Amino acid sequence: MLHVEKMTTADFPFAVELANTMDWSMTEEDFRLSLKLEPEGCFVLFDKLNRVGISTSVSFEKVGWFGNLVIDQGCRSRGGGTMLVQRAVVHLRNRGVKTIGLYAYQHLIRFYENLGFTANREFAVFQGKTKKQRIKSIPQRITEKEIPKCSNWTNSASAETGRDCLS
Ligand SMILES: CC(C)(COP(=O)(O)OP(=O)(O)OC[C@H]1O[C@@H](n2cnc3c(N)ncnc32)[C@H](O)[C@@H]1OP(=O)(O)O)[C@@H](O)C(=O)NCCC(=O)NCCS
Repeated sequence: MLHVEKMTTADFPFAVELANTMDWSMTEEDFRLSLKLEPEGCFVLFDKLNRVGISTSVSFEKVGWFGNLVIDQGCRSRGGGTMLVQRAVVHLRNRGVKTIGLYAYQHLIRFYENLGFTANREFAVFQGKTKKQRIKSIPQRITEKEIPKCSNWTNSASAETGRDCLS
């Protein structure tokens, strides 16, 4: 029997391990920040006494964001993912949020559409390995004129694509 509970610090090791099955490079610090920002909006899915899923959310007045949704491989297709999304949506609505955003993998657009979200924008994620570099110069703040140059560079370096979803 699946049920959802609010995330606590005791859930962090599980949350990190599960999130990193997706190669998201999460740390306990990430979940500590999520819990600090939205103490009532981060959740763990349980199958009886066992932790089997996670999700987080954050709200800022009328805008909310949902993320870090993962269900343990052995527990998928039992409605747990749906439960975690719905729980976060209820929480965010109770906080007065009108619009909820999330990043979705392309193959999950239907999953989120079935939960009331609408795909509204495509994006590309740049993936690559960095070389260790010693940065000698002090980073400079870019000017507004240079922003298009940066965004073109990001768009042309597409390795993985997905969509934004808004509820
Ligand atoms: C996406 C995920 C959270 C869904 O969790 P789940 O517990 O399996 O979802 P549910 O059981 O609530 O499924 C609800 C519906 O969505 C569909 N669905 C679930 N995962 C799907 C997938 N990967 N592709 C297509 N459809 C999917 C199910 O078929 C189900 O439809 P049905 O009710 O008609 O059978 C889970 O597959 C997962 O952890 N994936 C890896 C992490 C990930 O991709 N997270 C999302 C980041 S955007």
